[in-house]
Amino acid sequence: ARSRAGRASMGPPPSRLPLLAALVAAALLAGAAAATEEAYVTLLYGDEFVLGVRVLGKSIRDTGTRRDMVVLVSDGVSEYSRQLLEADGWIVKRITLLANPNQVRPTRFWGVYTKLKIFNMTSYKKVVYLDADTVVVRSIEDVFKCGKFCGNLKHSERMNSGVMVVEPSETVFKDMISQVDRLPSYTGGDQGFLNSYYADFANSRVYEPDSPLTPEPETQRLSTLYNADVGLYMLANKWMVDEKELRVIHYTLGPLKPWDWWTAWLVKPVEIWQDVRQKLEESLPGTGGGRNPHDQLVVKFLFILPFCLLLFGYYQSCFQNKKDFPSVQSLCAFARRGRHKYKSEEALPSYLAVGVSSSTFSTSNQRVSY
Ligand SMILES: *[C@@H]1O[C@H](CO)[C@@H](O)[C@H](O)[C@H]1NC(C)=O
Repeated sequence: ARSRAGRASMGPPPSRLPLLAALVAAALLAGAAAATEEAYVTLLYGDEFVLGVRVLGKSIRDTGTRRDMVVLVSDGVSEYSRQLLEADGWIVKRITLLANPNQVRPTRFWGVYTKLKIFNMTSYKKVVYLDADTVVVRSIEDVFKCGKFCGNLKHSERMNSGVMVVEPSETVFKDMISQVDRLPSYTGGDQGFLNSYYADFANSRVYEPDSPLTPEPETQRLSTLYNADVGLYMLANKWMVDEKELRVIHYTLGPLKPWDWWTAWLVKPVEIWQDVRQKLEESLPGTGGGRNPHDQLVVKFLFILPFCLLLFGYYQSCFQNKKDFPSVQSLCAFARRGRHKYKSEEALPSYLAVGVSSSTFSTSNQRVSY
């Protein structure tokens, strides 16, 4: 009787187990839902930028995030590329191109209005959009707290659409689409349109993760640290922001893209991108990173080529006919003059400084990537 009374006071035991199970399941579901409420997003229009997306994905995962990574792919992307990105851990979503009303503009802008579809990703509460030619060098999880729309200012008063934080909203998306025909676009693409749509963007306050503004502003600016373009680097041959605080590097320099191996010679920060590329996992057979032996051979060949040509020319002029002998002498005189000139320039401190800064670059680079 005692045990029955005890049981009665504790409630009917058979119903507790399912209740507990339901609670656990609910907690798990809530946890899973929380993990996918926010996502990193990028866009892929064709196979040309696949390596860019792979490196971007690797760099995002390396920051330790558990948020979704979504790549919106248009028709131009092959089945194999889609499989590869899925194997890398991307959620691949197929989209159709959103027609660009400003068709008079260069063809490379065709379809760029498709980027507006990010505003229609209403299954997420917040998305951080990154162009396929960016790489994350430090965790950027703190920008998910940014308000309705956050972007970066470039060229003094233009919003750059390469890195954006967006709160998807069907209302905003529909409003944008209704204005696509009317609003001007200085680039002929999405960036120009967004600059017209968020006309007052240049006056936005800078987003500070540790001191959120109330009420939440319509637009906020991200610091240059979240969208540091290599064009900026090239101006002074160094980052004009605190290098250790750098978060996202954006490889915007005309047609130079970090996946073209030779750009590493022209644009120093490409080394950071290449470091990530070399560590790519072999998601599908033969797709792992590492050094490409073919590229290394080409580099060695190109390095030796000028010396070979010089030697070849020298011996030709020596052995072909003796009349050319004075020209060899003048070549030597030219070389002497050149050496003398170099020595006198070496004494100038400015030249010395340039030499030192470029030679120590690789070590400062390392600091950035860790
Ligand atoms: C926007 O999102 C909604 C809901 O997911 C979808 O039905 C609609 O087709 C999308 N619009 C465009 C233009 O992609």
